[in-house]
Amino acid sequence: MPQETTPSKYLEPVIDGLKMRDSQDYAKDKLRILRAYVYRFTTSMRNKLWRSLHYIDLQAGPGKNQFRPSESVDLGSPLIALTTKYPFSRHYFVEKGDDEFNALYTRITASQLTRNTTLLHGDCNQLVDQIVQEISAVDSAYIQGKWPSLNLAFLDPEGLELEWATVEKLAKINRMDLIINFSTSGFTRNAEQMLNSEHTTKLDSFFGTLEWKDQYRQVVGQDATKIRRVMLNFYQDRLKQLGYVYNYERDILPDEKAFRNQKGAQVYTLMFASKHELGIQFWNDAIQEVSQPKLF
Ligand SMILES: C[S@@+](CC[C@H](N)C(=O)[O-])C[C@H]1O[C@@H](n2cnc3c(N)ncnc32)[C@H](O)[C@@H]1O
Repeated sequence: MPQETTPSKYLEPVIDGLKMRDSQDYAKDKLRILRAYVYRFTTSMRNKLWRSLHYIDLQAGPGKNQFRPSESVDLGSPLIALTTKYPFSRHYFVEKGDDEFNALYTRITASQLTRNTTLLHGDCNQLVDQIVQEISAVDSAYIQGKWPSLNLAFLDPEGLELEWATVEKLAKINRMDLIINFSTSGFTRNAEQMLNSEHTTKLDSFFGTLEWKDQYRQVVGQDATKIRRVMLNFYQDRLKQLGYVYNYERDILPDEKAFRNQKGAQVYTLMFASKHELGIQFWNDAIQEVSQPKLF
């Protein structure tokens, strides 16, 4: 049964006096796509025999965004998950920033689903262990593998702070769909300098291997579009090695959405990974829905 949510300024897309994330208008589609996917995911899976549906948001933010230059306000990713029509059974939110965490805490406490929510304060690359352990315990409580949970993780870093080891840990859970914000501008900003570093760099941790350097060396100096494509493909190939579906021959590929800033420069690419083709279909539908021109 869908739950009625009590109207609350903390859960509505309005100014409520708490910290909001300063975002740019171009980021609105990222949240629209998330909303469209979450809706499909929870609606179509709610009557299926999943033990439980989990939403995981490792860089949750404060819960609301104020966009510029429009000045409009909208819900951030954790509140999108909390207010969707057919709720998840459990939510896991992680936020490192103190002010963001405090604002998110107050907002989610206003939700009737707060008891189904775990809010963690700190570095997601460490706290992911706790989340994975909890979900794995749920999955192995009865006949292992027979009645699993279904999971969606939204991984939305500002730059390169999502470590590959974290993605790998999440992928150990059998039914784990991933929506990943790949910071192409973060890559571009750092690649040159980190290529020849003798120390472990953020890019080494981001890709989880030094092989990114070989990939990059093959295209360095070529145009930016080509470089981005090679690095995105490399990341997707690594996801494929974790059991995610990227079947080039059969054309089973999740769509991507590239985001550009006001100056037209590419900032990030939203990508998706699922171990099941149905997830890819939902994702591609969600992207298409958001990309349709709006009719007035
Ligand atoms: C792009 S914002 C997330 C926005 C949010 N997903 C939304 O759409 O409303 C990234 C957030 O991750 C937080 N953050 C940065 N590094 C982190 C880390 N290692 N662990 C957890 N949170 C982190 C930042 O403080 C910031 O609030």
